[in-house]
Amino acid sequence: MKIIKDGIYYVGVKDEQIDLFEGQYSVPDGISYNSYLLLDAKVAVMDTVDAFFGEEWLNNIAEVLGERTPDYLIVQHMEPDHSANVKAFLERYPTAAVVGNEKTFAMINAFFGEVVTNKVVVKDGETLSIGKRSLTFAFAPMVHWPEVMLTYEATSGVLFSADAFGTFGADYGEKIDLEKWKSEGRRYYIGIVGKYGAQVQRVLQKAAALDIKTICPLHGPVLEENLGFFIGLYDKWSRYEAENEDVLIAYTSVYGNTKKAVELLAEEIKKAGGSVTVRDLARDDISLAVAEAFEKKKIIFATTTYNADIFPFMRTFIEALVERNFKNRRVGFIENGSWAPMAAKIMRGMLEKREGLSFCEQTVTVRSALNAANEKEIALLAKQLLES
Ligand code: FEO
Repeated sequence: MKIIKDGIYYVGVKDEQIDLFEGQYSVPDGISYNSYLLLDAKVAVMDTVDAFFGEEWLNNIAEVLGERTPDYLIVQHMEPDHSANVKAFLERYPTAAVVGNEKTFAMINAFFGEVVTNKVVVKDGETLSIGKRSLTFAFAPMVHWPEVMLTYEATSGVLFSADAFGTFGADYGEKIDLEKWKSEGRRYYIGIVGKYGAQVQRVLQKAAALDIKTICPLHGPVLEENLGFFIGLYDKWSRYEAENEDVLIAYTSVYGNTKKAVELLAEEIKKAGGSVTVRDLARDDISLAVAEAFEKKKIIFATTTYNADIFPFMRTFIEALVERNFKNRRVGFIENGSWAPMAAKIMRGMLEKREGLSFCEQTVTVRSALNAANEKEIALLAKQLLES
């Protein structure tokens, strides 16, 4: 059993069978549901795990505790990937008290009925002593549900951060690959809490007042080194700032003609010294393309007119961006339409109320297949995109 710090144990589980996290995100390397146990005069368990891993998790707890039993189950987050075993825990340890806030207990009742007889209702900033250690609760509404609270243990400088600072991937080994964490951590963050940048900023302000030595999230590896790297990324993401000046071209293409326009644009961008990533929204992981749209400063949207609208994957993509507060970017359009092209107008209409977007003057309209005029327009679009 992994010891995080003296008296703080990891009792979580790894899910390597899952196909889609939250029913939508691909997780080729699985995901972990982290849970922690604090051994002091009192015993506190921090969050449960996903429904499929109840027995394994209870066995992990028993292995650490031997003859002792938990005094507290602290529920930081009620989403079922962490809370599914609250009832099972109370059946195993009926004398334990459940620690949460008013919203936590309303959700416990909604999920399980009146299963908690011994409850400790805490307020924001309140502290619970468990012996030499004391736990201070900091509410973090909408990071990622309204009842979420983080927990800080001052003696060891550990922040139990709920979903914050989590990532996809069940196993990061002994040494965290920072590039892998950044890529999957971004996809996780933008997908799950990207909409709630203002709330994440408030949490970061609370965290700045703490002496944090270790971050224990509910997914992904425990963070003990390079904390500035992780906190810096969260700060950037939650302020909706691009990480770089690179270009993302997100496209759909029915017969390959829009794709040809995209490939030509990518060549022009590379020739001019720009860095470009191209994503086919019908074939690539859309959550990756969404995360990259928040990573990069410049985005080209390229699609066809379809049923007097835009191609469905592009509509889904733009809606996912808008839902997550997409802003502060340089944007351009390529459209294709054989008789009544209207994709660029529709895409722009979906985006134009977003804050801080600047649109390239040149929009490229392909009428079925690329022609010489289109080639010149694409060169100009590349220039406008890179000059901005
Ligand atoms: Fe990992 Fe919001 O649950």
